[in-house]
Amino acid sequence: MAQEPRTLPAAELDTGLATELIHHAYQPPAGFAAPQPPVHKASTVIFPSVAAMRARDWRHKDGYTYGLHGTPTTFLLEERIATLEGGRQCLLAPSGLAAVALVGQALLSQGDEVLLPENVYGPGLAFAKGELARWGITHRLYDPMDAAAFADLLGPRTKLVWLEAPGSVTMEFPDLAALAAAARARGVTTALDNTWGAGIALRGFEHGIDIVMQALTKFPSGGGDVLMGSVVTQDPALHEQLKLTHMRLGLGVGANDAELVLRSLATMPLRYAAQDAAGRTLAAWLDTRPEVAQVLHPAMPGSPGHEHWQRHCTAAAGLFSVMLQTRYSAAQVEAFVDALRLFRIGFSWAGPMSLVVPYDLAAMRSATALQQPHLRGHLVRFSMGFEAVADLQADVLQALEAALPPA
Ligand SMILES: Cc1ncc(COP(=O)(O)O)c(C=O)c1O
Repeated sequence: MAQEPRTLPAAELDTGLATELIHHAYQPPAGFAAPQPPVHKASTVIFPSVAAMRARDWRHKDGYTYGLHGTPTTFLLEERIATLEGGRQCLLAPSGLAAVALVGQALLSQGDEVLLPENVYGPGLAFAKGELARWGITHRLYDPMDAAAFADLLGPRTKLVWLEAPGSVTMEFPDLAALAAAARARGVTTALDNTWGAGIALRGFEHGIDIVMQALTKFPSGGGDVLMGSVVTQDPALHEQLKLTHMRLGLGVGANDAELVLRSLATMPLRYAAQDAAGRTLAAWLDTRPEVAQVLHPAMPGSPGHEHWQRHCTAAAGLFSVMLQTRYSAAQVEAFVDALRLFRIGFSWAGPMSLVVPYDLAAMRSATALQQPHLRGHLVRFSMGFEAVADLQADVLQALEAALPPA
């Protein structure tokens, strides 16, 4: 015979306590001051009344509506990044690449064309090929080192020009001001990827550029542990256009990541200068080595676009590439990179650890571009961390001696 189910006595819940733990009367005293700003976390924002809720406009920074539309923490970071770039408004995106994509999505429509430099950051090109193309937006590559020919490329469908200085991996520094002026003369919007210049070595708005984007992942984070991007403008209408798309796409950044970048911003000029100095020391030494055909560092005379770097920049990032002699095989170059002990193999840059990446240019660049004299050989990119420069130089020397026999 089936047994009657036994009933268990319900736990005695103190309903008053449950509510009180959420709607608690205590308010800490106002006026707490500390060097670091507080971290505000929210999806939900509380309104004092329905009327206040209805009156708030998420587009303005005079109130709060929803975590995605901004908190004191993200507003603070936006304002500081806008100042860093010499702009007025800033939007934060979850990565540098998301910031690149945001610009394209906000400004381009079916039938439009975007021009990208031939040495553009690879995933930005992949975005144009894989996403923009599906929406009927075409792209063309231009030679960033030929400002004279550039103006003729701007057609009636050209709505956006991306600029990058220096070019990704191969480090050619273009005449940014001339490219921006040509685009502006035709009414075409320009966007600069200023991840390398970071608002320290290079300030895009001073050279006539409309939008300055940065992968905050690099210098502003400085730790190799945060992904974030920014899109800065000076023109309120352009900002509004970007902001609407930003909101519709649901782009936002986490409060803890924003806090990490806010914390790192204070040391950014010092970190940038230290890595710049270390990079110049190592680049100058590598330039004397018989294994090296060419050093690609914009601050080094003889590097492509060095004269443009001189006119546009006050400093240089601790990031440069070297072309190893053509007599070495790809396997020898990989053995050289594998032999490095302090330089670790990894993408990204501007963190505490020095990094190295060998690149296969044949897979990245057009056959025409590869004909250029400075691109003959095998490219290895170095990113300076904060180790002692003498130790880094000794590391490179032992790896050169281990893997690359002299001629
Ligand atoms: C020049 C440049 N732009 C954009 C990005 C993209 O940044 P993220 O890695 O945050 O997507 C990178 C990352 O390597 C970069 O080097």
